[in-house]
Amino acid sequence: MKISILYFGDIVGEPGRDTIAEWLPKLRAEYSPDLVFANCENATHGKGVNKAHYEELMKMGIDAMTSGDHIWQSNDIVPYLDRPEIMIVRPANYTNVPGKGYLDLTVKGKRLRLINLIGRVFTGANVESPFHVLDKVLKEHPVADINVVDFHAEATSEKRMLAEYADGRVGLVVGTHTHVPTADCQVLPKGTGFISDIGMTGPQDSSLGADKEEVLKSFLTGLPWRYNVASGQCELGAVFCEIDTDSQQALRIEHIRRTAL
Ligand SMILES: [Fe+2]
Ligand SMILES: [Fe+2]
Repeated sequence: MKISILYFGDIVGEPGRDTIAEWLPKLRAEYSPDLVFANCENATHGKGVNKAHYEELMKMGIDAMTSGDHIWQSNDIVPYLDRPEIMIVRPANYTNVPGKGYLDLTVKGKRLRLINLIGRVFTGANVESPFHVLDKVLKEHPVADINVVDFHAEATSEKRMLAEYADGRVGLVVGTHTHVPTADCQVLPKGTGFISDIGMTGPQDSSLGADKEEVLKSFLTGLPWRYNVASGQCELGAVFCEIDTDSQQALRIEHIRRTAL
């Protein structure tokens, strides 16, 4: 038996949410995924996700969401992160913060664990080692049949090495955070599906989804970067992965890139 997962990278603001609303039904018809996951850390104006937008995305048919450094920017959602019914995971390697570092779901009678970790290289995150926390989470009882990791990190080397460390113990490792898709989608030697970064779903004529004039001003002046979400045509970044439920090995992984007005 196999299970299939459609995974969207960072959804940026209203344009990103609208693009998911437009494309999810089409991708569902094309790929028939068993589960749909997404990274929601930028879903509300690029800064975290509020409860209304979380609910909007869930109604579109997303089963669970991972996050990252920006999740803490929406005070609206933080008090809800501990609630079992809220299907949002925050990076597991933060300590003494609200929320869940992983979620267990049941699909086709199998236990699937969705894990979120944040990188330490060039992120400024003062967190425990994602490598050591991954070891701990994988051993949490009852252990899962299939593990899926969103590694929210900046450096491709850290992402690749985390995936190599997880290889054979995890069905899928997706990278998020940079908003730029990478061309290294592959199945690693021991069977873990991997991509360094899925890329974002958000405005294309932008700096990572943000208004490029505002970002350029910051680079030219050195003044603090205060950004708003850009507008115009959007790009969509996702991966589709099939995982064998007995071996936990990825059978195939494909990067998906689409555009939408
Ligand atoms: Fe992001
Ligand atoms: Fe991020």
